[in-house]
Amino acid sequence: MTMKHLIVANWKCNPSGAKDALDIFRKTEEGIKGIENVETVICAPSIFISVVTPEKSSVKTGGQDCHFEEKGAFTGETSPAMLRDAGCDYVIIGHSERRKYQGETDETVNKKIRASLKFGLKPILCIDNPDQIRKGTEGLSKEDFGRLAVAFEPIWAIGTGKACGIPEAKEMNTIIRGIVGEDAPVLYGGSVNSQNARGYIEEAGFNGLLVGGASLKPDEFLEIIRGVDSAM
Ligand code: PGA
Repeated sequence: MTMKHLIVANWKCNPSGAKDALDIFRKTEEGIKGIENVETVICAPSIFISVVTPEKSSVKTGGQDCHFEEKGAFTGETSPAMLRDAGCDYVIIGHSERRKYQGETDETVNKKIRASLKFGLKPILCIDNPDQIRKGTEGLSKEDFGRLAVAFEPIWAIGTGKACGIPEAKEMNTIIRGIVGEDAPVLYGGSVNSQNARGYIEEAGFNGLLVGGASLKPDEFLEIIRGVDSAM
């Protein structure tokens, strides 16, 4: 497992223009200079990925979803090959907002996880309960588990300002670890901010965080990263 903690920004459908996207990206990139113990990933909307992904950057990039085919007649979709070609290393799969609004099922999640791995992307599988991990990773080999990450995101904690309590999060972390084995980083997501971030790492034992709203405010996001960088 990577020694670094993994902090993933999920910008969702934000910001509304490329200029702001570049501004947030650059401020984040500038601010993480000197950070050693955190791998920072920004998952921007597809249309901004090429805008924000420089040739070489300390910030890694990822998609927020991808299709399970390389290419073809799938209007509106972005393929894993395209994300890889645009310089992405990661892709979020199965986010609860996609499950809720875009009809994402455990079956499509499973296909997308396999496709991402095939094209060299590291999928970040978002789950709200253990059953979604079992179904989303069905048929994967032990090696595959070393190439993905899982994000525990209780639906009620996303975008609500009501983050999951540490004891409950810790309990889920242990359950997830039991399913995925030792190699996959397990992240917490749901109303993470600079005040609560460290607790998920130090007390609940997560390997990183998936950050939505707070990742769009560079000062706040950098505060989260610095906190985790100095976590024990
Ligand atoms: P939030 O979103 O940090 O705004 O709660 C997290 C997510 O949806 O990944």
